[in-house]
Amino acid sequence: MTTVRISPVAALRGTVRVPSDKSLTHRAILLAGVSDRTVTITDALDSADTAATLNAVEACGVPASGHLGGTLVIEGRGLRGLHPSPHIDCANAGTLMRLLPGLLVGTTAEYLILDGDDSLRARPMARVATPLRRMGASVFTAPGGTPPLVVNGGRPLTGMRHELQVASAQVKSCLLLAGLFAEGETWVVEPAPSRDHTERMLEAAGVEVLRDGAAVGVRGPVAGLSLPDLEVPGDFSSAAFHLVAGVLLADPEVRLEGVNLNPLRCGLLEVMRRMGADITVEEGPPVAGEPCGTIVVRRAGTLRGTEVAPEEVPGMVDELPLVGLLGALAQGTTVVRGAAELRVKESDRITAVVDALRALGVRAEELEDGFRVTGGRIVPGGRMEARHDHRLAMFGAVAGLASADGVSVQGFEACQVSYPAFAKDLAALGGVA
Ligand code: S3P
Repeated sequence: MTTVRISPVAALRGTVRVPSDKSLTHRAILLAGVSDRTVTITDALDSADTAATLNAVEACGVPASGHLGGTLVIEGRGLRGLHPSPHIDCANAGTLMRLLPGLLVGTTAEYLILDGDDSLRARPMARVATPLRRMGASVFTAPGGTPPLVVNGGRPLTGMRHELQVASAQVKSCLLLAGLFAEGETWVVEPAPSRDHTERMLEAAGVEVLRDGAAVGVRGPVAGLSLPDLEVPGDFSSAAFHLVAGVLLADPEVRLEGVNLNPLRCGLLEVMRRMGADITVEEGPPVAGEPCGTIVVRRAGTLRGTEVAPEEVPGMVDELPLVGLLGALAQGTTVVRGAAELRVKESDRITAVVDALRALGVRAEELEDGFRVTGGRIVPGGRMEARHDHRLAMFGAVAGLASADGVSVQGFEACQVSYPAFAKDLAALGGVA
């Protein structure tokens, strides 16, 4: 395990092109694999998580050449052309483990085992297994609803309406993919809308996506799909670390280029503006069917504490730890509610964020479904653990930049999961990790 110390800096400035979008890369590789054509993906995210998805698609008999981060060529085998090997390693990638079963139920293979690392093995999978079984699929979890998953293909599937208790793009995507093989319509209704990358990509691939108010669906069985070549834009969730560092320290400004600005991903912008942040968005042409552009952030004067409401959570689910850090530096109290999902991410991010903030000298308390942070002082600094969670490692680095004495992050290598060049990019802006 690597411990990295991040020292406070006086100011950050410059331009960064953040790594490509992780959510889009997973989806592009998976849909390319079942496409009727050979698909060229430019700038797919090169990270541990997306390497797991590429390996998984290759393990399903799909030839691929080139490489992540450059030009990747995937020879799609068609919707019913996957020939999976019996054991697929999903590593740390929750998105892979939740989306892939939606395609595997359309194969004729039996006893497919999907497994992952210790962190993934603790994450809930009944949320995909149970609704897939209701459609007629044969999908099982370990006792307790966790991995490994066992999938048996070749069962006839029936389209149906799924009402999700918790908004989840991963569950929605899995069910829509399974719906491509089902007889009739498969609908998914969420309590609040989650990211719609799968819907956009399916449409780009020629699949009709049905919409009715809050419900989204597909009509199966679909004969095939044809994903066009695509370029992957930058990841808003990776940009978010520089955005928060920038609001605390940018002078004169930090520019984040080529970022995916899908409105269902950018909830943090609204929350930060409400807290007093100075952020400008320069929209550019869409990339991969997603709105895209440059985000410019300048150091804010005084930040004000805020309350994040439950309906805001899906639009910023991966950025909520950063709201805790902003809250530590804002006047007053910052509260996040309706975010119990954070307990089942790569770590229990409610406990992890509160423990980290406390270890750095901040007043923070856990709520069942969120946290409360009392701000108004500079963060003293100290030592915190990343808990094998990439977003916590980067959270610690941003905290260090704005702290009085610096922050040591144990397990900093977790950044590899989504942002291997994080330390390099931070250094380019004037922060040293
Ligand atoms: C993701 C959806 C979110 C998010 C995860 C990526 C996706 O998870 O936290 O990092 O790519 O669909 P949920 O769907 O479980 O909310």
